[in-house]
Amino acid sequence: MQTKKITLLSGDGIGPEVSLEAEKLLKVIEGQFNYKFEITKKDFGGIAIDKYGIPLPEDTLNTCKNSDAVLLAAIGGPKYDNLPREKRPETGLLGLRAGLSAFANLRPVMVFDPLLDSSTIKKDVLASTDLIVVRELTGGLYFGNPKGIEVKHGEKVGFNTMVYSESEIKRIAKVAFEIARKRKKKVTSIDKANVLDVSQLWRETVTQVSKDYKDVNLEHMLVDNAAMQLIKNPKQFDVILAENLFGDILSDEGAMLTGSIGMLPSASMGDGAHPAIYEPVHGSAPDIAGKNLANPIAMLLSAAMMFKYSFSDEKVYNLILNSVKNILSQGYRTKDIHQESRDGVSPTKLIGTREMGDLICKELAVSKSKV
Ligand code: IPM
Ligand code: MG
Repeated sequence: MQTKKITLLSGDGIGPEVSLEAEKLLKVIEGQFNYKFEITKKDFGGIAIDKYGIPLPEDTLNTCKNSDAVLLAAIGGPKYDNLPREKRPETGLLGLRAGLSAFANLRPVMVFDPLLDSSTIKKDVLASTDLIVVRELTGGLYFGNPKGIEVKHGEKVGFNTMVYSESEIKRIAKVAFEIARKRKKKVTSIDKANVLDVSQLWRETVTQVSKDYKDVNLEHMLVDNAAMQLIKNPKQFDVILAENLFGDILSDEGAMLTGSIGMLPSASMGDGAHPAIYEPVHGSAPDIAGKNLANPIAMLLSAAMMFKYSFSDEKVYNLILNSVKNILSQGYRTKDIHQESRDGVSPTKLIGTREMGDLICKELAVSKSKV
């Protein structure tokens, strides 16, 4: 029996609803496999601001540090939009990433066949797209100094700094090459080297790292072109390596290839000294919170990634993935991926958050019994 300590940060908006579905899934896995999960729930984001005035209480960070993995749903909401930056939920998220030294953010973009019609992109362009964005997560513009808003020459001036050291670039590049080695052996490194000095260093350093990975094909692409290529021909990509902000933007674009941002999971990890964070890419969607409308799949796939990356258990990872695929092929959809009926007959079956979670859990239990 393997005991795993999981810190669950449900957060705000739809966070608690999709977290409940992840808890259900973990219960099923506990019942079917040799696991015992010790789940500790902690306040993080808006809910922590409401209770303690800060988004990332020390107790929350310490509990995360002392666990085997962190499952995080979503944070933020309009209520917190006007708070000073240091008190905002997003600042808590950056603090959590930095506090756990989670410099590598993996965002797999898998296009599920049954969802080909849910995307705004043409079917034949999308079919069999399978890529992963490796986003640097603790550097760049998000963390660089100097930053701020100051009065200069009688007017306000705002500034942030995109800064990377060679060592920061090397460690994230290595993650991308290692992943590519186990996939289609291609890394596309994103930069803006025609304009930015920091990008020039990024390009040089990634090229240098690639010398240790002769079996992997390296290509450099300017970020504006990458945004275009992702829509034009997403199949050309295998591993997309990008700095923090470029990765943030391109991964949302990637999400839309899957049909909905409600489908995209992520893992954020460091060098192993601290636990990794598993988190859907979607936000807290306050407009649909508490209505049983949210898509729990990104959260369930994030839990799946936890088995793969933190518990080295590809079997459970694949079982969750296949359960999701099977339920989608049976036509079940939450609202974000549902196809509206033409001529009164809808090609898909509209269900809610809880029902989607239940179906995937049931499917998992059935598939397990067939293994
Ligand atoms: C993401 C989000 C966050 C980011 C926000 C909420 C701070 O957009 O995880 O992609 O920009 O990293
Ligand atoms: Mg983002």
